[in-house]
Amino acid sequence: MSITTENEIIGMQRASDAVAITLKKMREYAKPGISTKELDEYGGELLATFGAFSAPALTYQFPGYTCISINGEVAHGMPSAGKILKDGDLVNIDVSAELNGYWADNGGSFVLGQDIYGHGKLVETSKEILKKAISNVKGGVRISEIGKLIETEAKKAGYTVIKNLTGHGVGRSLHEEPHEIANYYDRYNTERFKKNSVVAIETFISTRSTIAETQADGWTLTGNKGGFVAQHEHTIMVTSAEPMIFTAGNRIWD
Ligand code: CO
Ligand code: CO
Repeated sequence: MSITTENEIIGMQRASDAVAITLKKMREYAKPGISTKELDEYGGELLATFGAFSAPALTYQFPGYTCISINGEVAHGMPSAGKILKDGDLVNIDVSAELNGYWADNGGSFVLGQDIYGHGKLVETSKEILKKAISNVKGGVRISEIGKLIETEAKKAGYTVIKNLTGHGVGRSLHEEPHEIANYYDRYNTERFKKNSVVAIETFISTRSTIAETQADGWTLTGNKGGFVAQHEHTIMVTSAEPMIFTAGNRIWD
């Protein structure tokens, strides 16, 4: 969406606070021994206290309130009573929701407990790349330039990017124009970021894979070459200077 009034900023901020605080609290609630379904139900309760509704449930009839992807799962992990969190797991939680007609989206990967398997560097790299990417988004900047930055930074750190999962416009629905804010340099995309538009910028930094493929459950995405992926996402408003970060309350950069 494009922000034209103060009320729209307030509406976006409320929806963003709901998803950001839900994400932060879910991250704190996650511990070895609980199932991803328990974690998701906790997230669903939090969204309800804000009066917010799960965006993937509303938009895609996703079987959960939030997406929780573990280890080899890249995204859209389906919460399940059979998936029990363990120390050292690479966990990604993505929370998106609608509140009073406004839609916000955010997510983050983290290592649960002790970093037994050494996923920490991947997580930190993804966080730093998101920070750098967002600080370069301005009205008039080509979307492909941000993709180039993400890809270049990932390569520098020894990683690849997932090409078929992207950031996107958000605000009046979960996914709107611009539909593809890719993590690589797409020279065919000549679109530019527009001042006052609301977009979700998200990284998909990968140890090996470049394409995410849908699994037999119809939801869970895994990498075409295996390995691990870290994602960090904020909903922002594009300005003529540094963007305004609506979902800063998730504290993924702390
Ligand atoms: Co998104
Ligand atoms: Co998301």
